[in-house]
Amino acid sequence: DFQPPPKAIEALARAANEGWNKYTSTYGIPELREKIAEYFLSKYGDYTMDNVLITIGGSHALYIAIMSLVDKGDEVLIPDPGFVLYAPHVMLAEGKPVYYTLKIENDFRPDIEELKQLVSKKTRAIIVNSPNNPTGGMLEEEDVKAIADLAEDYDFYIISDEVYNVFVYEGRHVSFLEHSDRVLYPMSFSKVYAMTGWRIGFLAAPKEFIDQAMKLAYYTIACPSAPIQKALLDIIGDPEVEEYVRNMISEFKRRRDYVFKRLSEIPHITVSKPKGAFYVLPKYDLEIPSEELAMRILREKDVAVTPGSAFGPHGEYHFRISFATSMKQLEIGLNRLEEFFFNI
Ligand SMILES: Cc1ncc(COP(=O)(O)O)c(C=O)c1O
Repeated sequence: DFQPPPKAIEALARAANEGWNKYTSTYGIPELREKIAEYFLSKYGDYTMDNVLITIGGSHALYIAIMSLVDKGDEVLIPDPGFVLYAPHVMLAEGKPVYYTLKIENDFRPDIEELKQLVSKKTRAIIVNSPNNPTGGMLEEEDVKAIADLAEDYDFYIISDEVYNVFVYEGRHVSFLEHSDRVLYPMSFSKVYAMTGWRIGFLAAPKEFIDQAMKLAYYTIACPSAPIQKALLDIIGDPEVEEYVRNMISEFKRRRDYVFKRLSEIPHITVSKPKGAFYVLPKYDLEIPSEELAMRILREKDVAVTPGSAFGPHGEYHFRISFATSMKQLEIGLNRLEEFFFNI
């Protein structure tokens, strides 16, 4: 329900008025790449603009990372439940998704022993997503280190989707960039600046990789949108924008606390308190498939939840709630959910 910071909207109008309406380099505007390297990546190591390719959102960054990396028959470890694009992107590259499970009993953290058993000679990469959509879970530093070690030992890449890295309500977000140099890092401005429709993000990776990914970008999109890139360049690091983001995150924390409290009081439901992102994935104890349950909740209560099965086989018997909507709407929705589960 948030809109982009007002300064971002002003910067976009200004960019178009100033003539930023032409193609840019496929890599993106050099000044923006430089600023991203300095502002978002330099705290993790020696990153320069050569490590950055501007993309059409995180989805595109993820797609070109996977298409550049994965060949026919390669295996890619994927979180289950996990974000809906991972498996299809791997399949588009003719690779094979191999699911690792995230269980509510373990606060949706992976089981490292399971991961070890799933690694094979064909493993090309693991996709990790912390904070996580749809679970709201977050990896601990020990998980990050263990996965980084595994990637090193078995020579595969880590595709680390950290697009919710500022939406953290408890503990510290640990980036894979702190612990490994074999990371492909698809990033998005959709969430942090509430600009999902602007379609802007970037891919950070070793230079050789960026140069290959750029070719894929060239043949598919020519370049990212010029005025949007210019607007981003103007607002990244702006103190007013930073404050806007901070306030938005405190509002999300308030919602997270409220949603968790309400769900904890509803029968048939087990809930793990989200540590980050803006989702919660309750598990229920009824013998109703999640798609059917979600349709019933929609028809009978006019409330939209996402069936857990949309996120992978282990998403079954869960449903996802997004709290990217107002407190008022959340209150109405949760009242109706409560009625639904009390009367079922
Ligand atoms: C985990 C995750 N990764 C990536 C994305 C892609 O974001 P976008 O393409 O809007 O930048 C999303 C969007 O919902 C997401 O939830």
